[in-house]
Amino acid sequence: MGNYANHIATVQQRFDEALTATGFDSVLIYSGQPAVAFLDDNPYPFRVNPMFKYWLPITESPKSFIYYQPGQKPRVYLFRPRDFWHAPVQIPTAEWQDHVELKVVDNLAQVRSDLGDKLTAAAFIGEQYEPVTSWQLGARNPQNLIDHLHFQRSQKTAYELDCLRKANRIAARAHNAARDAFYAGASEIEIQHAYLNAIKFREQEVPYNSIIALNEHSAILHYDVYDRTAPAESRSFLIDAGALYNGYCADITRTYAAQKSGFYQELVEAVDQAEQAIIRAIKPGMSYYDLHVQMHHMIAKILVDFNFFKISPEEVYERGYTNAFFPHGLGHYIGLQVHDVGGFLKSADGQSFERSARHPFLRLLRDIEPGQVFTVEPGLYVVDQLLEAFDGNDDFNWTRIAELRPYGGVRIEDSVHVTEDGVENITRDAFAEEK
Ligand code: GLY
Ligand code: MN
Ligand code: MN
Repeated sequence: MGNYANHIATVQQRFDEALTATGFDSVLIYSGQPAVAFLDDNPYPFRVNPMFKYWLPITESPKSFIYYQPGQKPRVYLFRPRDFWHAPVQIPTAEWQDHVELKVVDNLAQVRSDLGDKLTAAAFIGEQYEPVTSWQLGARNPQNLIDHLHFQRSQKTAYELDCLRKANRIAARAHNAARDAFYAGASEIEIQHAYLNAIKFREQEVPYNSIIALNEHSAILHYDVYDRTAPAESRSFLIDAGALYNGYCADITRTYAAQKSGFYQELVEAVDQAEQAIIRAIKPGMSYYDLHVQMHHMIAKILVDFNFFKISPEEVYERGYTNAFFPHGLGHYIGLQVHDVGGFLKSADGQSFERSARHPFLRLLRDIEPGQVFTVEPGLYVVDQLLEAFDGNDDFNWTRIAELRPYGGVRIEDSVHVTEDGVENITRDAFAEEK
């Protein structure tokens, strides 16, 4: 990754700025440790502190630290326990090592004694870890420092963009295998296995539980149950699944109709076209909230075009009906985290946007700027819990809604990178390259 040197220089500058603005001398970032199940000694899969992988392409080194004081080379304490139970931690030679002072430690007391008095001036960023609770630190997870860093993270570096492109390539390859498994009549669990197998991933290596939903399950927004047997008839398939590369996330949704024609196939096509149309409309300076509202109007038009309502698209939106069919946000920032941070922040000093009562689940309220990466993921589903409120309402064409119910719904999701005059569609480019 040729851009790593510039990336770590940018991360350093951002920390310099954030530390100065918040009055801290230095920072100590802890990678984290695997959580252990209650009354047990088995750990859950390890999830590294995102602030740790922001600096280094290292995602599998629990109990490690980065110490950074502006003006000095970052110091990395990589933990390699003396332990004959587990495979030894590997530290292959890599570019990042040219940019830091690397110390391999097998005991946390070494970190404490090496840093000595410096600890009392450092802001610690990391989860609670018992051995560290007795350390005298300048502050623990100070919100003002974290807000500052989160605000800056909306601007992706060239290295981060490369990692996101790579994550999308990997996920697109897996999506193609999952699609083929669906058309071959596979069950949900078999599709999940086809997905992972295509990229040789363990289940814990994907950034979130894959949503692999056949038929009615497509209407369950975070469906991750995976039926073991295939349904008698597979009518529809919604897959929302990603991949990680150097700790950066892909988050992609595609929807497929078993039948190559008919109203459900046309509906998938209409949502897909609307998603591409709104992506074409993206320009720096717009607010993401306005884009979300614009999408609601497009969903209202689709609902009327497909005869789900007997009123105009304007009325469908004004009366609040689109929220029942498209209940989630249009998208979110993506990067080191699937739902990447900073979407509610108005400024680096932590002021935030007020959430909209009409659109409470939208995670991104900031203006659109070049360098940002976010998802665009419109959907349209039959969610009975949300429709209950409109029982008996004659504006709705309940017969038509009943026809869609066996298919669940539709969602299409891409990640886009905002440029000076439009966007780069990272996800569509990845599919084009994986053809
Ligand atoms: N896969 C979760 C989301 O799309 O936000
Ligand atoms: Mn998403
Ligand atoms: Mn998704």
